[in-house]
Amino acid sequence: MEPDGLIDTFGRRITSLRISITSQCNLNCFYCHNEGQNGHESQMSSGHIVNIIKTASKLGVTKVKFSGGEPLMRQDFEDILVAIPKFRNVSATTNGVTLSKRAISLKSAGLDRVNVSLDTLKPQTYASICRCNEDIHPMVLDGIQSAVNAGLTPVKLNMVMLKGINENELDDMISFVRLFDGDVILQIIEPMDFGNYGGSVDMDAIEMDLCSRASEVVERKMHRRKKYLVDGAEVEVVRPIDNSRFCANCSRLRVTADGKLKPCLLVNDNLVDTGSAGIHELETLFYKAVNLREPFYKG
Ligand code: 5AD
Repeated sequence: MEPDGLIDTFGRRITSLRISITSQCNLNCFYCHNEGQNGHESQMSSGHIVNIIKTASKLGVTKVKFSGGEPLMRQDFEDILVAIPKFRNVSATTNGVTLSKRAISLKSAGLDRVNVSLDTLKPQTYASICRCNEDIHPMVLDGIQSAVNAGLTPVKLNMVMLKGINENELDDMISFVRLFDGDVILQIIEPMDFGNYGGSVDMDAIEMDLCSRASEVVERKMHRRKKYLVDGAEVEVVRPIDNSRFCANCSRLRVTADGKLKPCLLVNDNLVDTGSAGIHELETLFYKAVNLREPFYKG
């Protein structure tokens, strides 16, 4: 690691890499932000992905999160996991549809934990959000159980709060999470409007309610996210919108499915293409991308 590692001009140290390993997905959720990319299909070679991750490791990144599209669409995901260096934390964000088959092999390949997108406990609501068949929902629940069994824990459930759709399911989700005795954490997420839908939920009211019921409230360093402990169930709240504290504490650099270093989810004109750069050139490109980082919401 370089003595100083990756620090942007706002003093933010980059310790976390979020890398999209495919733009393909087997669902079609109506609110999906596609990792801030537009729809063309693309993916990098596994060798290039490994080189990017090796570079990040060398430059002081301690956490890697794989995303998509749907990362499990790649059959070589386990091979990629085996080939990367050791990190403090290696995770993936998946829709869980095919997770039950892969949980054990992913864990043995080096994956520490997963986030599973689950906005609802109702198969019908799930089908309408993800624009899929109702039979998919039980497959996701299976996936969550398999991930817990395989030790991909804590499993975080990503619940995007959608006005008039799943807002009233918060208590049911908290009860669901409680069944797993600490192995599953609920992460409620403020939706970002990428033009796909309208209407915003009252996140203040939700947080006030959680706060009044919580036995403990902890603030995470990452994005200054708040965690509430509600009768033994852990609930984390992700509120990026208009949140300068969120941005001021962002330690993340993204990589798009087509191999561009992306300084911010919400900005599209400052991407740094890694093309077919080898490991030495990649280092220079990382510094370039980090220098372009700017908080989207400033204080
Ligand atoms: N707003 C907030 N979160 C989103 N995600 C996808 N689209 C959006 C959006 N518009 C997040 C969800 C999902 C993960 C893959 O990306 O948390 O679980």
